[in-house]
Amino acid sequence: MKDELIIPNHVGIIMDGNGRWAKERGMVRTMGHKNAVKTLKSLCIHMADVGVKYCSLYAFSTENFKRDKSEVNYLMNLFIESFKKEFDFIKEKHIKVVFSGRRKPLPDKVLEAMDELVRDTKNYTNLVLNICLNYGSHAEIVDTTKKICELYKNNQITLEDIDEDFISHNLYQDLPPLDFVIRTSGELRLSNFMMWQASYAEFYFPKVYFPDFNSKEFDKAIIEFNKRNRRFGGIKDEKKSS
Ligand code: IPE
Ligand code: IPE
Ligand code: MG
Repeated sequence: MKDELIIPNHVGIIMDGNGRWAKERGMVRTMGHKNAVKTLKSLCIHMADVGVKYCSLYAFSTENFKRDKSEVNYLMNLFIESFKKEFDFIKEKHIKVVFSGRRKPLPDKVLEAMDELVRDTKNYTNLVLNICLNYGSHAEIVDTTKKICELYKNNQITLEDIDEDFISHNLYQDLPPLDFVIRTSGELRLSNFMMWQASYAEFYFPKVYFPDFNSKEFDKAIIEFNKRNRRFGGIKDEKKSS
């Protein structure tokens, strides 16, 4: 990739289209999820190499529990297997893993694999990988509101302490705002992904299904990001004036 390109600090990826990818190949939906793990591995290595500092990955939404039990079970087992066996590259690349989402009702074995990955990578300072698992933006806002109410109730904060920054710091993870949100598969929606954090993000909706979203596709996305003129409510064309 060209050196002069700006790399977004925090990239969000809504990894969508696994089922359709498999269906087009005459396979069962779950094969799409399996192939998505392979894609994800090389994509994370590539993101670490090009200097992405934070990446939030939408792996499973709070609403995804509505799917067939067999698909949910498959995904839960895939998470366990991947976190335990497929993620060696995480340690090789010094990637730090954190999770966002509700622990309930995730199975104990999933939680154990998540906790182990967090523990093993907590001192790494390369790319921070925020895996959104049983995540929903609405749930996050509810949980953050409850956390803040508790602090207030226990006289640990006053009403004046609550501002935009305070809320940002008290979400599931205290991360910088999203700069760039990529949703594969051509769907044009957020599906409850990081609504607070994405308030000034740029959006990109490639048609490819996630298992085909390789490093080359990622580089195309970065070129598109570099064409955007981010104003943050101001009127200045930052690129032209710099
Ligand atoms: C995304 O792919 C993976 C998850 C939501 C867990 P889908 O399973 O949603 O695939 P499509 O959108 O049905 O093709
Ligand atoms: C969003 O995809 C969730 C993840 C990619 C994990 P969905 O496939 O669940 O979203 P909808 O149902 O098409 O909005
Ligand atoms: Mg989908």
